Amino acid sequence: MSADVSSLQEAREDAAAGEARFEQLIAEDSRVEPRDWMPEQYRKTLVRQVSQHAHSEIIGMQPEGNWITRAPSLKRKAILMAKVQDEAGHGLYLYSAAETLGTPRDEMYQQLYTGKAKYSSIFNYPARTWADIGAIGWLVDGAAICNQVPLCRASYGPYGRAMVRICKEESFHQRQGWEILHTLAHGTEAQKQMAQEAVDRFYGPALQMFGPPDADSPNSQQSMSWNIKRFSNDELRQRFVDMIVPQAEALGLTLPDPELRWNEERGHYDFGELDWDEFFTVLKGGGPCNRQRMDHYRRARDEGAWVREAAAAYAQRQTAPQAGLLGA
Ligand SMILES: [Fe+2]
Ligand SMILES: [Fe+2]
Repeated sequence: MSADVSSLQEAREDAAAGEARFEQLIAEDSRVEPRDWMPEQYRKTLVRQVSQHAHSEIIGMQPEGNWITRAPSLKRKAILMAKVQDEAGHGLYLYSAAETLGTPRDEMYQQLYTGKAKYSSIFNYPARTWADIGAIGWLVDGAAICNQVPLCRASYGPYGRAMVRICKEESFHQRQGWEILHTLAHGTEAQKQMAQEAVDRFYGPALQMFGPPDADSPNSQQSMSWNIKRFSNDELRQRFVDMIVPQAEALGLTLPDPELRWNEERGHYDFGELDWDEFFTVLKGGGPCNRQRMDHYRRARDEGAWVREAAAAYAQRQTAPQAGLLGA
């Protein structure tokens, strides 16, 4: 009995010391590492954010993977294949980072498989033309960069370090998208029109990638006080708009917002209200491709089961050769 009481006392003291150290790490803007004590809510928030991010990378391969066989030249095909492969890599780094928080990878896969976990709504839109591949690279990867560069300084070490590498690759992705659009915008009239229509389709959904307006984003404040998030949704969205307006001008294309104009006083571009009803409809599963994306993911996962089983059996044999011999 007394041993139980003293071990309980010790555990309380450890937790108190851990909490004080966590608070200090955050106050100093230092990194929290997997073995450090952390509040349960901090851990949960990170598992949710990092795994959602990983799922988005994986589902995000679908709209572009769809164009690999139809890319207009061998060079374009090779570039697109490399890009889609990068996205798979991003998913893997991020699942690894999330695993260090104590959630097994299979559990995260299962959450996506059953539809319990979310991924970025943007990937529920189809890539209808080759120009959409340009618009996705320029606008979707561009928005991802704006969102992710500050995450390189996220307080959780494994997440921040994964983001450093991811951001380097994302900036190539954005450039390849911009270059596709630039080529089309300087091609025939029909090509230019195709580029413009792709930008018209992806502009709004890309701006929505930063999440709902700050007033409707109650969890953001907590994430900011933990140094996970560094800027609010609206601040990042503004930064993105300010970045793409001159880029659109350089492309010779327009952005589909009549209210878009430079505000001298604010030193930023003003832009119109986004269609938040559409955003929430897509988020709840009512987008043009939600069903298709999930069906495809489940089918790929089911059909790949034998590969994972074979790889696991092989890995087991490598680590336990004796058991393999005994079994033979
Ligand atoms: Fe990515
Ligand atoms: Fe990317």
